[in-house]
Amino acid sequence: MLVKARSLGTQLIVSLGILLSIFGIVQGVSSYRLALVGVNALLDDRLSDVAVRIRDVFEAAIPHSSSGSGNADDLVVLVWTDHHKTPTRTTDSTVVFNRDSPGGFSDQVVNREAWRVYTLVTYDEVIQVAQRVSVRQHIAERSAVRALLPIFVLIPAVWVTVYLCVRRAFGPLKRLGRRAQAIDSAHLTPLPADGLPVELDPFVSSINRMIERLDESMQLERHFISDAAHELRTPLTALKLQADNLRPDIAPGNRERFLALHRGIERTSAMVSQLLQMARAEAQVSTSEPVELDVTEVVTSVVSELLPIATQKRIDIGADELMPARVRATESDMRAVVKNIVGNALRYTPEGGAVDLRVHPGEGVAHIVVQDTGPGIPEALLPRVFDRFFRVSQSAEGSGLGLAIVRAIVTRYGGTVTLRNRDDGQSGLRAEVTFPLI
Ligand SMILES: Nc1ncnc2c1ncn2[C@@H]1O[C@H](COP(=O)(O)OP(=O)(O)OP(=O)(O)O)[C@@H](O)[C@H]1O
Ligand SMILES: [Mg+2]
Repeated sequence: MLVKARSLGTQLIVSLGILLSIFGIVQGVSSYRLALVGVNALLDDRLSDVAVRIRDVFEAAIPHSSSGSGNADDLVVLVWTDHHKTPTRTTDSTVVFNRDSPGGFSDQVVNREAWRVYTLVTYDEVIQVAQRVSVRQHIAERSAVRALLPIFVLIPAVWVTVYLCVRRAFGPLKRLGRRAQAIDSAHLTPLPADGLPVELDPFVSSINRMIERLDESMQLERHFISDAAHELRTPLTALKLQADNLRPDIAPGNRERFLALHRGIERTSAMVSQLLQMARAEAQVSTSEPVELDVTEVVTSVVSELLPIATQKRIDIGADELMPARVRATESDMRAVVKNIVGNALRYTPEGGAVDLRVHPGEGVAHIVVQDTGPGIPEALLPRVFDRFFRVSQSAEGSGLGLAIVRAIVTRYGGTVTLRNRDDGQSGLRAEVTFPLI
């Protein structure tokens, strides 16, 4: 079973993004915790500082009794002198801490509120400076959240950076993929090796070696076909000549068999010249230089050449639309294409049928459309009719090379050829060739 491969780029982006985000989050959480601890330590320092200053300088500033400023953020300061059960001085007489707590920091609950208390014990008094735990928490959290802010900005920035870096790194790979996709038997061009990551070198050089070998073997095959066809031409011509010479001496009883032999020789000669034509078309070499020509003129000339066949089969061959369409090609290539397509339409359309031709320019290409009233081609076999020697039925004469030649020529010029059965309720085939306009 073929498992659809996931994109390497997406996998990299997701895994790197997740990894870096986890780092960011861990970093954020630890910054948050450190900030909490740090701020609490600072607040503790403040409590002990205030206690020391009160002992040394400001004791007189603390009132003997006060109901507090009403501001919950304020520190509360209590001063106890010996023997007294209540504080001698206080900034908020609504709260009284345990005066017997040991010197230093302690957490106490007074009036159901938690307090952080610093107790400073001197030889004649006890000074207590306190702050609500809820206020301290609030201050600490505000600072800790500020420590988190850069992480919130960093994580999206990390994703964007990872995405851009991976996309940039995979750019050459994508371009290479597009080049590799364009390779087929008609375009065996090696893949470019420059500008690629070194990791791809082994792949590219092995694909290029394969392309080279494929190209060589295809060239060998084409040479063999063309050599074989050449070699066969001479003995076939001699055979035909000898048969022609024999014609007057054939006994009347053998005439039919002689004619069959003659037709066989002619068919073989035709096949040999088609093989040569195909080898040339596939080798991408033209016998002459391409020139500017009008498709309509070629179509008209081919039709007049094939008119005797149409007349003989009583096929109504006509043109709905013949517009000028100029292309650059050799006349023999253009004629071969049109002759094969129109020839097929005439060959496979039964007597009394009709063949319609159309030539019109459009979207940068010349369209040549040939429609007939023949049997069409079974849908399942349509993709195979361009294969060499493939024939749907053996009822009519033919070698099965015509469409292979058409496709080789058309592809060489950057055009297309498509066959489909008619969809207008009428049986028959619709062949369409496109050729780039000048
Ligand atoms: N217009 C058409 N209508 C029906 N069948 C067609 C038509 N054109 C082509 N075909 C089918 O496609 C097959 C391949 O066509 P192709 O032109 O390649 O070979 P061919 O006509 O048999 O031989 P030749 O090499 O002489 O052209 C044909 O044998 C025929 O069965
Ligand atoms: Mg044909």
